[in-house]
Amino acid sequence: MQFTGFDLDHFVAHYWQKQPLLIRNPWGDWQNPLEPDELAGLACEDDVESRLVIGNDGNRTMENGPFAEDRFAGLGTGPWTLLVQAVDHHVPDVAELIAPFRFVPNWRIDDVMVSYATDGGGVGSHYDNYDVFLVQGLGQRRWRVGPKCDSRTPLLPHDDLRLVAEFEATDEWVLNPGDILYVPPCYAHDGVAVGDDCMTYSIGFRAPSRSELIEGWAEHLAEQFSDEERYTDPDLALQAQPGEISEAAIARLHDIVMEAISDRAGFARWFGQHNSTPKYDRDWRPETLLDEKALLTSVAQGLPLIRNPASRFSFIRVGPQENALFVDGQSFKCEGESAVLAESICATPVILLGHTDVQCADVASLLIALVNQGSLAFDDDG
Ligand code: SIN
Ligand code: CO
Repeated sequence: MQFTGFDLDHFVAHYWQKQPLLIRNPWGDWQNPLEPDELAGLACEDDVESRLVIGNDGNRTMENGPFAEDRFAGLGTGPWTLLVQAVDHHVPDVAELIAPFRFVPNWRIDDVMVSYATDGGGVGSHYDNYDVFLVQGLGQRRWRVGPKCDSRTPLLPHDDLRLVAEFEATDEWVLNPGDILYVPPCYAHDGVAVGDDCMTYSIGFRAPSRSELIEGWAEHLAEQFSDEERYTDPDLALQAQPGEISEAAIARLHDIVMEAISDRAGFARWFGQHNSTPKYDRDWRPETLLDEKALLTSVAQGLPLIRNPASRFSFIRVGPQENALFVDGQSFKCEGESAVLAESICATPVILLGHTDVQCADVASLLIALVNQGSLAFDDDG
């Protein structure tokens, strides 16, 4: 799916990660992909993360889901908003909303949060650490945006919500169904429902923090080394001051760390696996493990192979015909035909395989592994 009348090069050059942008309905024929009742139903499920924010302005309270089915009817006529995380993992039509935003690589895409609000409802003025495209699905919402905040920006005292204290917006728009507001990381924004039945789809992105990277990579490295690998000084230099940690000792200690930490190829492998670890689990593992015979049968039946929407797929080029494929925290060395397959699995959520595709033993074993770990499945629902 491509937007009409939307200049992607211009957007990336002037707005992406730079400044907010209002995009008036670029979808052509916008269809709201989810009914409010279906969203409320998801918020009642145990494996779905949801929040309810009741009230507005200086008086908001927050509750975490899952909610009892009669919770929403009991909310009365005041402003409230329900927010449900990763709805794309449960509703294929919501997952399809990500398609036009796939100019951003898979590893930077998070998931789609969906909100429903009654008149005047909203989460309040806040900023997020990630880029977001706020797609107005149903009804209207007034968005105010800017300026850019950081960790020194004063927040209102609140136990559950991080609300920007003195929010002075630089822009303001009312969004209609199909309109999109792009908000770069750290820009304050405040969306208030105008009328009831306001639904907003947040296409969210991810970007690892420096501390997350250092912590994860160092922890991974630390597990590789034995306790015997230590600082040594067989050439101990005698020193006048027993309290001094000498320059030479510091240099050697620093080398021990830097030598390990600067392993670029190892870092790439670790990052691919780390980044592909799913945030929410949707267990698609088959009851009966797939084997080569069953694989050939499914392919002969012409069943499409679909990606688990909660699974993360990405790859790194290791050589001219070799890729390292990362799926759900696992890595797969792919050469030749399986390297080509790895790229197409990452590029499209539905794959149709031909008989000849699975003749290659490497391709067959990659597919079997991905199906058996629940990252891919043959779609026999048509
Ligand atoms: C909302 O949908 O109400 C909030 C989305 C956001 O601000 O990120
Ligand atoms: Co936000």
